[in-house]
Amino acid sequence: MIDDAAIDALLAAARGAREHAYAPYSHFPVGAAVDSDAGVFAGANVENAAYPTGICAERVAAAAAVSAGARHVAAVVVTGDIDEPITPCGQCRQFLSEFGPGMTVVSEGRGGIRRRWSLADLLPHAFGPKDVEPSGR
Ligand code: THU
Repeated sequence: MIDDAAIDALLAAARGAREHAYAPYSHFPVGAAVDSDAGVFAGANVENAAYPTGICAERVAAAAAVSAGARHVAAVVVTGDIDEPITPCGQCRQFLSEFGPGMTVVSEGRGGIRRRWSLADLLPHAFGPKDVEPSGR
């Protein structure tokens, strides 16, 4: 169970990454950070002139962790620059679930409003690694 101090640190990292968001099309900067077995990694959304090619902050942070050797994520935090806490999109939920289906998800809005979930609640009945094992077919 991740404690409040660790979540504070993750949110600070996520806010820092949000400063570097590349969001010239949506004008919706997002920062995220993950607490993984390889440490804390942050990321921002990175958009592209070919719009669907862009990538969300959560996947940037998780991919940075995995690229550094992580294979498990205990928590992800996300922060947008709007009042309400935002939730990870469907694609990010699936991507994150690979590395911790029960991870804690925390989101903070601009005014400091925080919400907290388990990823399992945001992505019930998830498709996962076990489903593609030959023995499962
Ligand atoms: N976005 C994220 O990075 N994370 C979220 O949780 C929601 C959406 C990005 C994608 C796109 O660059 C912009 O926010 C607007 O959708």
